[in-house]
Amino acid sequence: MTIRLNDKYLQNFITAEDYAGIAPRISDAHETLVNKNGAGNDFLGWTELPDGYDREEIARLVQAAEKIKKSCDVFIAIGIGGSYLGARAAIEFCKSARYNNLKKDTPDIYFSGNDISASNLAELLEIYEGKDICINVISKSGTTTEPAISFRVFRELLEKKYGKEGAAERIFVTTDKARGKLKELADANGYETFVVPDDVGGRFSVLTPVGLLPIAVAGIDVYDMLNGALASKKAYAECDIEKNDCYKYAAIRNILLEKGKSVEILATYESSLAMTAEWWKQLYGESEGKDKKGIFPASVTFTTDLHSLGQFIQEGSRIMFETVIDLVNSSDKMEIPYDESNSDGLNFVAGKDLHYVNRTAFMATAMAHVDGGVPNIVLELEKRGAFEFGYLVYFFELACAISGYTLGVNPFDQPGVEAYKKNMFALLGKPGAEHEKLRDELAKKM
Ligand code: PA5
Repeated sequence: MTIRLNDKYLQNFITAEDYAGIAPRISDAHETLVNKNGAGNDFLGWTELPDGYDREEIARLVQAAEKIKKSCDVFIAIGIGGSYLGARAAIEFCKSARYNNLKKDTPDIYFSGNDISASNLAELLEIYEGKDICINVISKSGTTTEPAISFRVFRELLEKKYGKEGAAERIFVTTDKARGKLKELADANGYETFVVPDDVGGRFSVLTPVGLLPIAVAGIDVYDMLNGALASKKAYAECDIEKNDCYKYAAIRNILLEKGKSVEILATYESSLAMTAEWWKQLYGESEGKDKKGIFPASVTFTTDLHSLGQFIQEGSRIMFETVIDLVNSSDKMEIPYDESNSDGLNFVAGKDLHYVNRTAFMATAMAHVDGGVPNIVLELEKRGAFEFGYLVYFFELACAISGYTLGVNPFDQPGVEAYKKNMFALLGKPGAEHEKLRDELAKKM
């Protein structure tokens, strides 16, 4: 068992009739996906990655990661959205949220180009001073503003430090195989490039070089991760919500939405899973939030957030359900010490393993939230590791596709993301008639 869906905290909320009612729609969604005849069917490449990934490309990527590990103290992954979240989620899931502070023989890894904050960029430049650096700029389109600005800054820095040719040895580009400014730049300067397959959208791309190069640099076994995804693909091939936990998760989400639960909170009890929740939010938010439909994806890290958002979840407006990732086994054993004086009154937990206490907090919270009217879907996750991350990624991607088709949207496009970009380009004075026209319209609103 890598993942098991435990539905015991749903019994007050979902009936056998609800499952029977949605089963035909889940079955239709399954047919649409496997027959590749639904909306967005030119973006189903992610379904082929676990067994059909490009062997040569991934072998070359592993070699590049070895070279990077030997030649730098600091590795910078530049990208945003689907070109950022998956790699960071994987590194924190498999290693730690404090990866850079661990004792290790791999480079520190920083992420840049995922915002436009002057302070963030200035701080990173300070951190890198005097260190040997390698860069991986990741952009499928090769035109996204945030990573493009960051890359321009770091390319200049590397060229000053190592010369143009030396810099070229330290710059790795992950982008489209033929199109985009980044590809042109890579070809002109001789940077090593890795390909984002045409038929894999950004938020489904963590198991392509987009995610796998930074993940390999962190010393994580990418083949183990791909094997995990393959095991997941095999486990969830059959369309039967009684046997297929992935499809059951998709079904439950839609049932709860139809009962008025329009917010889903992904709850974890480990800070190392917080970025996985960020990745999950993009996956579900961009895939389902369109046509005035969808479940708003939120996340919390418990028990920390029980002391901030716990009150709202327990007693606030009843619009949400929780999906809890219950980590069954922790690799770290930590026994709470016994204190003869018991001056802090804590001896009732003395001798208990801290992970046992954390899971007890989960059970206590789930029962309280259920009593407060918040359905809890529990995904029991066996442990943290590369295999498990790959398994979880495929579980959520497949569930997202089935859930999106059941909801009646195209889960593979993101037309709404363009709106802010158009306004920003117009306001910043990007040349071109369309930007100028919009600039005039916006000026009237300001
Ligand atoms: O899921 C998506 O498509 C987006 O989040 C993109 O990944 C994000 O906008 C970055 O795009 P690009 O990789 O083209 O720079």
